[in-house]
Amino acid sequence: MKNPDRRAVISAATALTALPLPVFATQSKAGSRPVIQTPTQLAPRERILFDFDWRFALGHAADVNRDFGFGRDQKTYAKQGKDDVAEPASADFDAHLWQAVDLPHDWAVALPFARNDYFIPPENPEDGDPGAGHGYKAIGRRFPENSIGWYRKVFDLTAADADKTLTLEFDGVFRDALVILNGYILTRHESGYTPFNVDITNYINTNGPNILLVRADASLGEGWFYEGAGIYRHVWLVKTHKVHIPQWGVCVRGETSGAIALETAIKNASGTARTLDIVSQIYDGAGRTVAEVSSSLEVPAFGERQVSQSSKVPDPKLWTLEDPHLYTARCEVREKGECLDVYTARFGLRDIRFDAREGFFLNGQGLKICGTNNHEDHAGLGTGLPDALHFWRVKQLKDMGANAWRCAHNMPSEAILNACDELGVLVIDETRLMTATPEGLSQLEALIRRDRNHPSVILWSIGNEETAQQGTERGLKIAMDMRRLIKSLDPTRPITAAMNHYQGQGITPALDVMGFNYHESSIEPFRKLYPDMPIIGTETASAVSTRGEYVRDEVKGYVRAYDLDAPSYALTASAWWSLYNAKPYLSGGLVWTGFDYRGEPTPFNRWPEISSHFGILDTCGFPKDIYYYYKAWWQSAPVLHLLPHWTWSGREGQPIDVWAYSNLDRVELFLNKRSLGVQTVPKDGHVQWTVPYAPGELVAYGFKGDKVVMKASRRTAGPATRLSITSDRTELRADGQDVVLIRAELFDQQGTPLPTADNLIQFGVSGPARIAGVGNGNPTSLEADQASSRHLFNGLAQAVVRARRAASPMPVIVTAYTDGLATARLTLTSHAD
Ligand code: GAL
Repeated sequence: MKNPDRRAVISAATALTALPLPVFATQSKAGSRPVIQTPTQLAPRERILFDFDWRFALGHAADVNRDFGFGRDQKTYAKQGKDDVAEPASADFDAHLWQAVDLPHDWAVALPFARNDYFIPPENPEDGDPGAGHGYKAIGRRFPENSIGWYRKVFDLTAADADKTLTLEFDGVFRDALVILNGYILTRHESGYTPFNVDITNYINTNGPNILLVRADASLGEGWFYEGAGIYRHVWLVKTHKVHIPQWGVCVRGETSGAIALETAIKNASGTARTLDIVSQIYDGAGRTVAEVSSSLEVPAFGERQVSQSSKVPDPKLWTLEDPHLYTARCEVREKGECLDVYTARFGLRDIRFDAREGFFLNGQGLKICGTNNHEDHAGLGTGLPDALHFWRVKQLKDMGANAWRCAHNMPSEAILNACDELGVLVIDETRLMTATPEGLSQLEALIRRDRNHPSVILWSIGNEETAQQGTERGLKIAMDMRRLIKSLDPTRPITAAMNHYQGQGITPALDVMGFNYHESSIEPFRKLYPDMPIIGTETASAVSTRGEYVRDEVKGYVRAYDLDAPSYALTASAWWSLYNAKPYLSGGLVWTGFDYRGEPTPFNRWPEISSHFGILDTCGFPKDIYYYYKAWWQSAPVLHLLPHWTWSGREGQPIDVWAYSNLDRVELFLNKRSLGVQTVPKDGHVQWTVPYAPGELVAYGFKGDKVVMKASRRTAGPATRLSITSDRTELRADGQDVVLIRAELFDQQGTPLPTADNLIQFGVSGPARIAGVGNGNPTSLEADQASSRHLFNGLAQAVVRARRAASPMPVIVTAYTDGLATARLTLTSHAD
C-alpha cells in the first residue's frame, strides 16, 4: 500500500479525540443503536480505527515451517529489526493468499467442530465430556495446526509522523499476542481479555511501508467456556504530540451535587521540560459547555506528572436508569496558547450505596438489581462482535426489564460498557484472574483504569468461584492485595467476589458486598456472621431451556422451555426471583445467563452439544419463553405470553400443559372459543392449564380489574406459503462495522408462523454489506457459522449482515430463499461512511 488509505484519512479526521467510540452518542431514529457524531474540537491527536485491511493465516504451534519460519534456528529474539523473526515480517512477503479480514475477528468460530479426539470418559458421567465446556471447536493443544493465528497489515505514514508519538492500542487479542513491527518484537501480551498498547514511535518507517504482524497463540484457554481466538476487539493507531495525555489518562469523579474532581496524567516524551496549561471543560449531553477549569504545571523532560482539578456543574442532571445522562470532560494540554493534545472522557453523575438491610440505592432511591450474566459470543460471529451488536444485545435485555449486566468472567469489550452507560444498565465488572502476581495485578489495574469513568459500573469483582482460594487464609492475603490496588485506583466503588461456598470465611473480609452464586440456603447463616455486609446474587437460576422445545429429548439433547429445569445447585427462574424479590435486604440478583453462549451445554454435557441452554435468549438473541416471565416481573408494561405453540399434529386428544406469563390480575384461556377457565396470576409466578390438544386457536385474555387489556393467541399452523425476512433496523451505516440482524421464518396462508420448521434457508446480500455469520440457536447444530445458508431451528434462523465501507449511499438488498417458496427480499438504506 503506497498511499495512505483514503478511508483511513477520513476516519482520522473524524476520530480526533481519545474517547472510545461513540464520541457524542445520540439515539438513531429507530432508537436501536448509537450514532457516532464527529466531535467539533480539532487537536493534533488522531485516533485511527485500525480494523481494516488485515490479512490472516493460520500458523502452526508445533512446526516452524508451517509457522512462517517463526522460531526457526532459535533466532527469534537474536537480532532486532531484521526480517528473519518470521517470513511475513519481510516487505517482500506475498500475503495475497492470506485471507482478507476486518476486525473484530474470531478465527475459532470458522473452524470445524471436533469431538476432540482425546475424549476420555470422565469417572463421574455427570461431569460430562471435557471438550464440551469450550464448545467443541478444533482448537487448543490437540490442534496445533489451528491454534496459532497470524495477522498482517501494511500501512504508510507521512514525514510529519516522525515528530509525533505513535501508539498502537489493542482492545483485546485472544491470546498470548506477539506484536512485531518492521522486524522488531515490540511486546508480548498474554491475557486474552485485557487491552494493551505499544509505543511504536522508534520503529516506524515514514519513507516506506510499515509491516505490522500480530501472532496470537490460542493453544491455551483462560476460562471454562468458549473464548474465541484472534484480534476479536478493535485496534487503534493513535498519533499524538510528544507532550500528551496517555491512554486512560483522565479520571473523572462526579457527585450528584455537580462537584467534579479530575485527575489528568500528562506525559512529556520530549527532551525539554515543558510548562503547560491544562484546560478542562465539561460538556453536558447536548454538547453545551457547562464548566471549565484550568491549571498550570511543569512536566520534566521524559517525565510524567499528574494534575488534579475540581469544578462544579450547575443544575446537575443525574445518570439514572430511565434517563442515563452523560457528561463529557474535554481536557486540553496547551503550551503558550498552542493546543498540544485533547483527550475526552465520558462520565455520569450518580450515587450508589449498598445497604445490608435495605438493599441497593441509586441516587438515594432503592431499587432491586435485576440482571443477567453474559459471555461475549454471538451466533455466527463467535467473540468477534462489532460494537453495534454489543449494543443490540444489551438493549434486548434492557427492553426485557433487566437493569444490570455482569461481565462473566473477564474484562469486557468496552462497547458493552458504553452501551450500559447509554441505555442505563448497571455493571459488575470482573477481572479474569484472582491472583496478586504482577500479571494478575496488571490485569486488575487495566480493568480499573479503563473502566472507572463509566457510570454504569457499580461493583468491581475480584473473582468467581475460586474454589481453591475463596475459603482459605492464602486466598484472603491475595484478595487483600487486590483490594489495596483497587482502593488506590478507585475508592468510590465497592468490591465483591462471586462465591459459591465459604461465604463468611476466607476472602470475606476483603469484600464490601458479598456475592452469592446460587446456594441460597447459605444466605441466612452468612447474615448471622456478617449482619452489616450487603448481599448480591452474583449468579442465580442457571435454569435451562431450549427455545421452542416443550418435551425433554435425551437423544437430541433438548430441554423443555417451561420453567422447570435447573441443575442441582440452582433454582428455576420463578423460584430464585420470588425468593430474592421477597427479601428487601438482598440487593438483587443476576441470572446465569442473558444469552446462550458456546460451551457448557448443561445438562447433557456431551457431543454434539455446542452451546449452553442457560440463556433467557438463545445464541442469536431470539427470546425463549422465559424472556416473558422476566419481562412480566421486571418492568411495568402489561405482558401476556402463552406457551407452547399450538401445532401438535399427531397429539390430538393428548394433554398439553399451557402456561401464561403475565403481570396482569387474571387470565382467561379459550380453546376454539370454549373457555377453559379464569386464573388469578400469583405474584412473581405464572398460570397454567392442562388442555387436551385439538387443532385450532388458543386465546388468552388478560384482565386488569374487570377490564380485558391484552389478548394473546397461538394458532395451529398449516403448510408454509411464505418465507419472510425482517430486520432489527432498516438502516445501515456503511462504515465497515455496523450490523443488522436478519430474522427468517415461515408463515402459512393465515399468517401463522410455523413453529417447528427446519427448512434450509439460503441468504444473499447485494450492496455495501456482507453476511458475516449465520445461526439458529440450536444448541446441537454442527452447521458452519460462517456461511450463507442455515436451517431454521424451531422456525427461526438469523443472518448477521455486516456493512462494508462505502463512500456513497447505496441500498443493501438482503434475500432469503427456500425450496418451493418465493424469494423473500428486504431493502436497507445504507448511509455513506
Ligand atoms: C457457575 C459458574 C459459571 C457457569 C455456571 C453454570 O458455577 O460461575 O461460569 O459455569 O456455573 O451453571
